[in-house]
Amino acid sequence: MNIYDVIKNRRSHRLYKPDPVPRDILARVVEAALWAPSGTNQQPWDLTILTGQPRDEFVAIASASFADLEPRLRQLFDEERVGFVKQFFSNLGGAPVVVAVTVWKDPDPFAQEAHIQSGAALMQNLLLAAEAEGLGTCWMTGVKSREKELLAYLGLPDRHLLAITPVGYSAKTPPVVPRKDRPVRWQGF
Ligand SMILES: Cc1cc2nc3c(=O)[nH]c(=O)nc-3n(C[C@H](O)[C@H](O)[C@H](O)COP(=O)(O)O)c2cc1C
Repeated sequence: MNIYDVIKNRRSHRLYKPDPVPRDILARVVEAALWAPSGTNQQPWDLTILTGQPRDEFVAIASASFADLEPRLRQLFDEERVGFVKQFFSNLGGAPVVVAVTVWKDPDPFAQEAHIQSGAALMQNLLLAAEAEGLGTCWMTGVKSREKELLAYLGLPDRHLLAITPVGYSAKTPPVVPRKDRPVRWQGF
């Protein structure tokens, strides 16, 4: 698949089939993720890929974040949409695999920002590689209110939780969320 097609076809998937994802496919996706650029090539990240019981235990902790998010969601969305998000958070759409991306913490704000940007590059690589493999994902930071508990579960209490994503075969084609008018300025052309 052409890279432009992969980029444009990637969507956030919030309902998954229970079918397991073969480990060799996941390994290819992870390998592609790890080829992301990073500030001063520090590669300041860790990926944790969870399935089976660890996935269920991790999701149980992540799901609790919905209660923290709910008041804000109620300001932004109607009842139906809030209900949809609640359903999604309850089991991450039933995805059989969850990937957690963590980055190093650094007291220097410039270094910290570079770590976060590096982690975001890795995350996007992961999402695009998954798309190329026919897998659905959904970048999620909504669970970060439970960051401490999630990091403790991962055994990485000193890291910064960048985001998590469910990974699996999609059970529902998501709508294409339109992009805003191009906020792009061309100068000197
Ligand atoms: C930094 C970041 C955080 C996000 N957090 C969540 C989240 O917590 N829950 C969720 O359902 N989607 C989350 N998303 C997905 C966005 O809602 C989604 O990317 C956006 O609506 C555009 O839709 P698309 O990905 O299908 O193109 C997040 C995306 C990004 C980049």
